[in-house]
Amino acid sequence: MKRHVIRSQDFTPEFLARIFDRADQFRRMMEHPAESKKLKKRLKGRLINVLFYEPSTRTMASFVDGAHHLGATVFCTADAGLTSSTVKGETFAHTIRMFNGYRPDVLVVRHKEEGRLAEGALLLNKIGSRTHLINAGDGPGQHPTQALLDVYTLHQQLGSVDGVKIMMGGDLLNGRTVRSLAYLLSKYKDVHITFAAPKQLQIGSDILRHLDEHCTEYTCVGEDFRNLLPAQHAVYWTRLQLERIVHEDIETQKKQREELARIQKDCFCIDAAEMALMRPDAILMHPLPINNEVREISLVAEDDPRCVIFLQAENGMYVRMALLDMLVNG
Ligand code: ASP
Ligand code: CP
Repeated sequence: MKRHVIRSQDFTPEFLARIFDRADQFRRMMEHPAESKKLKKRLKGRLINVLFYEPSTRTMASFVDGAHHLGATVFCTADAGLTSSTVKGETFAHTIRMFNGYRPDVLVVRHKEEGRLAEGALLLNKIGSRTHLINAGDGPGQHPTQALLDVYTLHQQLGSVDGVKIMMGGDLLNGRTVRSLAYLLSKYKDVHITFAAPKQLQIGSDILRHLDEHCTEYTCVGEDFRNLLPAQHAVYWTRLQLERIVHEDIETQKKQREELARIQKDCFCIDAAEMALMRPDAILMHPLPINNEVREISLVAEDDPRCVIFLQAENGMYVRMALLDMLVNG
């Protein structure tokens, strides 16, 4: 296992088997008060720092709450772009060096810019740091711990990830969760991924190249994605990443955002009709949040028993607890 958790390509099959076992174990222990007390000893005396430069509900809360369940001391900076000395012009490199000096066991960071976490990991290695760095999302780059919880959920719900047919839809160009998930799925056998998006938001060629290199089959489709829904074991839908659709001219930016939102709303939503096309044993996933104005998963679809979005989020805490525990205790 690598010292830092930056990209999902780096997870080995052995690591995946171990972390999923440990997440199962922690989930079972959390269900019994006496057992959950034992968990409190695992990270006792350890320090976890959480530093977020982008908004978050789940990732931040599940790392913080998970670390507390394991008995760690947690220091959390939300809105770091507004409340840290970044506002005074401090570089990310200096911020990382500062945190390292306070000797946390693990530093969990979400950043707006792709590649920043990889730079942070190099810097920590260069200065001989003993802190583990976790990428909690780096702009349009990756979200490796989300991919872990997504694959954990696929495994839990479908019994196996090998042989899975999955459709990923929505904003595949700007969404980091689909990128990390595609990288991770390429480690499993006989997976077929269908990428369903408007052509302006279709998955990047770097991901397709990686899938080719790893002999993972894929299909790219547009509005006609519905024809392929009956074949899927899992449907993984995503929100339009409005914050990443930027233009120097504000009016143009507004128009572009409105146009893409309209396309998603009209042609790329999962509603009752799409649910009716899905297999009775298929699952509907979404990393969340759902954009309530676009409603890429409708309220009706959300209420369908095949929709596992809240289970995914809950699984995220167990998987992140297992990750923290493995980094610190091995
Ligand atoms: N919460 C996920 C992320 O941070 C997905 C999203 O925001 O749409 O990437
Ligand atoms: N899925 C996810 O990363 O959610 P948050 O952005 O709320 O952390």
